[in-house]
Amino acid sequence: MTAPHPDPSQLAFEIARRRTFAIISHPDAGKTTITEKLLLYGGAIQEAGSVTAKEGRAHTKSDWMSIEQQRGISISSSALTFEYSGRHINLLDTPGHQDFSEDTYRTLTAADSALMVLDAARGVQSQTEKLFAVCRNRGIPILTFVNKMDRPALEPFDLLSQVENSLSITAVPLTWPIGDGPDFKGVYDLQTGQVLTFDRTAGGKHRAPVHTAGLGDPQLDALVGADLAAKLRADVELIQAAMPEFEPGAFLTGELTPVFFGSAMNNFGVEHFLANFVDLAPPPGPTLTNLGERPPEAGFAGFIFKLQANMSKHHRDRTAFMRVMSGHFERGMDVTHTRTGRKLRLSQAHTLFAQDREKVEEAYPGDIVGLVNPGVFQIGDVVSVDPKVQLPSFPRFTPETFAAISLRDVGKRKAFMKGLTQLAEEGVVQVFYPTDGARDPYLGAVGPLQFEVFQARLREEYGVDVELHVTSYGLVRWLAGDPSSVARFARHVEDDQGRPVMLFRSRYDLDYTAEQHPEIEFLPLPRDL
Ligand code: G4P
Repeated sequence: MTAPHPDPSQLAFEIARRRTFAIISHPDAGKTTITEKLLLYGGAIQEAGSVTAKEGRAHTKSDWMSIEQQRGISISSSALTFEYSGRHINLLDTPGHQDFSEDTYRTLTAADSALMVLDAARGVQSQTEKLFAVCRNRGIPILTFVNKMDRPALEPFDLLSQVENSLSITAVPLTWPIGDGPDFKGVYDLQTGQVLTFDRTAGGKHRAPVHTAGLGDPQLDALVGADLAAKLRADVELIQAAMPEFEPGAFLTGELTPVFFGSAMNNFGVEHFLANFVDLAPPPGPTLTNLGERPPEAGFAGFIFKLQANMSKHHRDRTAFMRVMSGHFERGMDVTHTRTGRKLRLSQAHTLFAQDREKVEEAYPGDIVGLVNPGVFQIGDVVSVDPKVQLPSFPRFTPETFAAISLRDVGKRKAFMKGLTQLAEEGVVQVFYPTDGARDPYLGAVGPLQFEVFQARLREEYGVDVELHVTSYGLVRWLAGDPSSVARFARHVEDDQGRPVMLFRSRYDLDYTAEQHPEIEFLPLPRDL
C-alpha cells in the first residue's frame, strides 16, 4: 500500500517542520552524550545511558561495529529521527575521528545545519577546526554548544574569542553559564532574561527539573549564591554593552554562530538548546543540481550520500543512504536512476535506528531513507521522477597515505575482491590497481586508521585476512592530457573507475615528473572523463 499523495499544502507543512542536522566535535567533547540527551528529550529513548558505546553501558544506537565499540569511537554515520515540539528532527551522526573526514564530508552534504560541540575546558580543538571548515565550505548554519561546564572551564568570554579568532565566525551567546566546575549552577537565557538553574539528577538519567528566576529577582541570590549572582549580573551587563546582537540572517549564511552552554552529562542546558534549535535551525532549502536550484516543493528527487555494507549481522546487505531533496517519497514508487537512465522501483526502503529497521512508507525533504542497494548506487547518484536531474559534483578527499595490500590465502580471492569493491564503494578506503595486473592493489586513505578499519571489516564481514604495508607514497595525482601520451606513461596505476593515476613519494618527486612530462596534467582530484 502506498501512502496517498499529499496536497501541496501538506507537502509545504511537512517541509517546514523538518530539521536535518549533524553534530561535529573533537573526539571526547561529548557528542555521544548530547545525542543521547537529545533523544531522551525527543522521547526516542526512555532513559539516557542506552546510547553511549563505552564499556559497562549499553551500546549507542548509532554505533554498529565491534571495532567502534572496542575503540569507543564512532566510525560510521547514521541517521536518528525524533519528534520535538511538532518538529521532525533528523540527526545525522558523523564520525569524530580525523581519519574519517571523507565520510563526514559526505554526511554533511545531507545536513541543513550543524551543531558544533566544544569541551568547555579545551575550546576549539584540531578536529573541530577541520569539521568546521567542511561546514563553512557548504555555507550551512552552525550552532555551538559548550559542554562539560560542570568541570573547571575556560572563562566564557575567552572561549568566545577563541571561537571567533580560530574559526573566523562571530560568536553570539544566547545563554550564559553561571559558575563552572563544582559551582556550575545553570544558565541565564539572554533572550528571555530568565535564569535557569538545574538540580543534578542521579547520573543524569532522567529529565532534569528546572527552576527559573529573573536577573533582578532576590530569589536568584538564594538559588545560585550571592557571589555567582553578582558575577552573572556584571557579565550580562558587559554582554549587553559590548557583544553583537544575534542576527538570524548572518546565522543562516554561516557567518554567526549562536552559543549555548551546558553539561550534557548532567542534563544541564540540553533541552533548552533543543527548544531553541527547532526555532533557529532552517528547514530544508533548495538543492543545487545540473538543472539549477531545485526547490524542496518540486517533484520527488533524492541523492545518495553514503553507502554501507553489512550494517549488522542480521542484515548482511548493502544500504544506500538517500536524502530526500524534493517532493514526497512513497515506498514502491517508480523513479529513474538518473546516472544510468535505469528505471527503479523503490520498494525496499527503511529507516535505521541501530540494529532496528522500520519500513518507511513515505518521506519528505530532509529525511534520510535507507535503500537496499543491489549494486546500482554510487555516492552522489540521484533517483527522481524527473529523469534528467543530477548533482553537479560530490566532494571527495585526496588520499594522503597509501598501503600495499597482499592476500594471505589466495583461495579467498573472490571474497577478497568483493570486500575490496564494496568497502571502496563506501569510501572506507580508495583503491588503486596496478596497470600491469600482476600485483595486488594499493589502498589510499586520508589517515592510517582507515586501513585498520578496512582490515578488520574485511576479516569480520568477508572472512578474508590481508597483510598491509604502509608505503612511502604520500601524494596522488590523476593524469589528464592527450590520451595516447597518458597511456604511454609508465609507472601509473588506475582508480576504481579505470582513470589513470600516479603515486608520488614527495612533492619533489611530483614536480620533477611534471617538469619532465609537460604533455601531461597532474590533477589533485579526478576529473570526470
Ligand atoms: P564523544 O562522542 O564526543 O567522543 O564524547 P562522549 O559523549 O563519549 O563523551 C566523552 C566523555 O566525556 C565521556 O566520559 C562522557 O561521559 C564525558 N562527558 C560528556 N558530557 C559531559 C559533561 O557534560 N560533563 C562531564 N564531566 N563529562 C561529560 P568517559 O569517561 O570517556 O566515558 P564514561 O565512562 O563517562 O562513559
